[in-house]
Amino acid sequence: MNQAIRRDPVPPDTRLPVVGRRLAARATAFQASPWSVPADLDHRHASPISLSSGAPSESLIPVERLTDAASRVWAEPNQWAYGGTAGYYPLREWLAHWLGERSIVTEPDHIVLTTGSQQGIDLAARVFLDPGDTVIVEGPTYIGALQVFDSYGATYLVAPMDDDGLDPDALERLLADRTARGLAAPRLLYTVPTFQNPTGRLMSAGRRQALVALARRHGIVVVEDDPYGELYFEDAPPPALRALDPDVISLGTFSKTLAPALRQGWMVLPPDLAEVMANAREVNDVMGDRISQRVIAYTVNGFLDEHVAWLRDQYRGRRDRLVAALGDGLPASVRLGRPAGGFFLWADLPDGMDAVDLMPDAADHGVLFLPGSWFYPDRRPDTGIRLSFSNVPPEYLDEGARRLTSAIAASLAVGAADR
Ligand SMILES: Cc1ncc(COP(=O)(O)O)c(C=O)c1O
Repeated sequence: MNQAIRRDPVPPDTRLPVVGRRLAARATAFQASPWSVPADLDHRHASPISLSSGAPSESLIPVERLTDAASRVWAEPNQWAYGGTAGYYPLREWLAHWLGERSIVTEPDHIVLTTGSQQGIDLAARVFLDPGDTVIVEGPTYIGALQVFDSYGATYLVAPMDDDGLDPDALERLLADRTARGLAAPRLLYTVPTFQNPTGRLMSAGRRQALVALARRHGIVVVEDDPYGELYFEDAPPPALRALDPDVISLGTFSKTLAPALRQGWMVLPPDLAEVMANAREVNDVMGDRISQRVIAYTVNGFLDEHVAWLRDQYRGRRDRLVAALGDGLPASVRLGRPAGGFFLWADLPDGMDAVDLMPDAADHGVLFLPGSWFYPDRRPDTGIRLSFSNVPPEYLDEGARRLTSAIAASLAVGAADR
């Protein structure tokens, strides 16, 4: 059942005008955005609290520092032309040094700046996937990555996870089963090992070693997406997969530590891939936003590490507050995660409760979350829910938890009455 899952195509939208009905097959992936549903649910309550957004807090964005940097950039001469596709060299230089301090050994020429890590996922898929190729994803995984892989006609192999992240032994068994059935090896493995979206889980050091070894044995390209690794609340996470294997493609972003609106991220590439990836990016959008890249270059130098240390305290406080408020209210039958970093807390509802059904009820109670099944390629039923604490002021987290607790209690009461 885990083999070669293909996402159900969205049925053709008959409301589309004639031209729209001539969409290419791959464009079925673009007909419905998962993000439109929480937006619709927003209207069911006068003052909803959204635990569904994966954005950083507006109030924690270093606006003054960015404004100073932007004023400097704006005043500079000779910066309005096209530039090299890989992006502003001094920022790539800074990144190579900064990544080196995190045991990721690379050089500026092997880094391509991207329009957020989302473009990094897209470029990796564009370069490695033919229609029908299989991608290994964690179950559950980041919705935005599924959107990308869908648009390249991918099929999926869902790798099981537990509290220590993706389980390489279980994946090995699935791969052996595929081989025994004469199926081709998957092309790509996409993973978020550190404070994963959506579960907040952290892959253990041992599993990281095992996973890169497994990928090597099977000739699978690993794409490691790491937007949250800097935002740890206790100990620093184990070394990135890219620190263990230079063939891993590693994606990073300034969206969570500075601001998503800057749309700047990066890819760290094996040397022989850097030119291909830059050329793929050239086809896609010629080059990135050089102004924004310069603003970041002037902002991060001598600032980012200190800023991130402060962010850790802020987000840790929000995590603690949500965990405490939920722990006080929820029944013991709800299994509550406690992420050691990042933006997301994962909770498992009592068996038999459907997280998708709970969504509109919770919206009526004034709280929004995302149901676990959305994070699987086949949208299989899942008791998990993703609760994001990053973009909710701490004092609202208590009320959000109270509303969620009431919604779950109401749903349990209906379930009991039905029995
Ligand atoms: C795992 C993961 N990858 C990529 C992204 C996209 O981020 P960016 O703003 O850098 O494109 C997100 C954003 O939520 C994410 O959680």
